[in-house]
Amino acid sequence: MDQQTLKEHVAAAALERVAALPNDQLVLGIGTGSTAECFIRLLPQIKSRIEMTVSSSERTATLLGELGIPVGDLNSVGVLDAYIDGADETNDQLQLIKGGGAALTREKIVAAAAEVFICIADGSKRVGTLGAFPLPIEVIPMARSYVARELVKLGGQPIWREGVITDNGNVILDVHGLSIDNALALEGQINQITGVVCNGLFARRPADCVLLGTAHGVEVLTPG
Ligand code: A5P
Repeated sequence: MDQQTLKEHVAAAALERVAALPNDQLVLGIGTGSTAECFIRLLPQIKSRIEMTVSSSERTATLLGELGIPVGDLNSVGVLDAYIDGADETNDQLQLIKGGGAALTREKIVAAAAEVFICIADGSKRVGTLGAFPLPIEVIPMARSYVARELVKLGGQPIWREGVITDNGNVILDVHGLSIDNALALEGQINQITGVVCNGLFARRPADCVLLGTAHGVEVLTPG
């Protein structure tokens, strides 16, 4: 089964879970990336249940708009019923690396505001130890070189993602060579570096469940 089909399967499984939520009208956080896009393309099926969505990127907001799904401001809605998004890596504790699409800061904000974070990914994203995927860090542009030097002190090899400006007007450093045994500690440590806006470790707010597309069907990872 190809990767696209696996993504479509997990997107359909996520839609089922969202449709099963008890509220009549739903306020949903919507992620960014190719797997999230598979999910977005299914949303018209439950359009009548969607009161509002909050998008994690301009790209996703545009697609939602094209599909006629209402998109609002996080400041104007309360707690989100659910957030649905992909990931670049997940471990079995449901800690994630995200940000391959440079949307990590808004993704982290929307995830933080959600009751339930449903992560959807093809099976290749499951790892024993996070870090083979270079960890994205969003940085204030003038702090780029300083932050890069500080990241080297933490044992990583940061590479500037040249030509990429985030929706927030910042730059991305991708940190190679990390083997992340304690994601919670490293997430906090990197956030302490002056000039860092956000890092792509989702350990303080991990997923609540990860739906993984495999050749044998959709596997569900849950905490514990
Ligand atoms: C976007 O910034 C990312 O966090 C995506 O969720 C992540 O890169 C997964 O993307 P794909 O679904 O395209 O693999």
